[in-house]
Amino acid sequence: MRVSRDELRFDFGEARFRLPRDRALLGWVVDQFLYGEVTGIQVGHWLYAAPSLEAATFFARQASEELAHVRVFLRIHALLGTSPGPPHPVIRFLSTGAMGSDYAEHVATEMAVGEGLVLAVFQALIDTVDAPEIVRLLEGAARQEERHVAFGEAETVRLLTERPALADDLLGANLLTLLALPRLARFIQRRLGTEHEVLRHTAAFLGHVVQLTELRLQRLGVLRGSLADLGWGRRTWLLARAYVRHQLNRLRRPRRLTDTYLSDPLLRQGRTEPAE
Ligand SMILES: [Fe+2]
Ligand SMILES: [Fe+2]
Repeated sequence: MRVSRDELRFDFGEARFRLPRDRALLGWVVDQFLYGEVTGIQVGHWLYAAPSLEAATFFARQASEELAHVRVFLRIHALLGTSPGPPHPVIRFLSTGAMGSDYAEHVATEMAVGEGLVLAVFQALIDTVDAPEIVRLLEGAARQEERHVAFGEAETVRLLTERPALADDLLGANLLTLLALPRLARFIQRRLGTEHEVLRHTAAFLGHVVQLTELRLQRLGVLRGSLADLGWGRRTWLLARAYVRHQLNRLRRPRRLTDTYLSDPLLRQGRTEPAE
């Protein structure tokens, strides 16, 4: 990954979610993840619209991993003694509304950046939940999420090498996510309060997450310079451009594997075993 697990880590000090005190609070957190993992089945769409058989093979495996993560969060609900509930609208927007409208948006926005954000929250929970059985379940899922992020990053870099002008489109698409994050932090603080030993860090943790995203966008070559250097005029231009591109993509028929498989590298190389 372009941003390592160590860089993802935020220092919560001695702050912990403790059971049984924080049962309901963690139940709410688990509901947000549960929704995100259920939207993981969107990857099924990219199985059909993948640019290569190799990418499709990755998505087939990813789909079964995301479905396994649904079970992980149901298991955590059972361990907590809580039952599943609906997600917050911002989570719904980030997971469904911001769904990529073409392959480049999918790998850069949903996989590299989106699943990268998810991984940062996984890491925060691993570091703060005072329940070894839950941490063990989260660790297993986090290792698979790492691979999803790494694949999204590698594909983003490949596409940018082929089409450098794509950088501005992808930057615009990711600005939307970055703008939605403070809303979620404000909601968490309003709904869950700022007194809790872990939640006291919500604002600082959000700052950390935005910084990580900036770092990832820089290392991928999507962002040159820093986010702070982007003036409002340029931000508005990038957002408008990403919006128009997003809408136009919806009208286009994407190339399917059924159109491309005969010129696929896998066939040309005569390889039959999928790469690891
Ligand atoms: Fe997942
Ligand atoms: Fe994932």
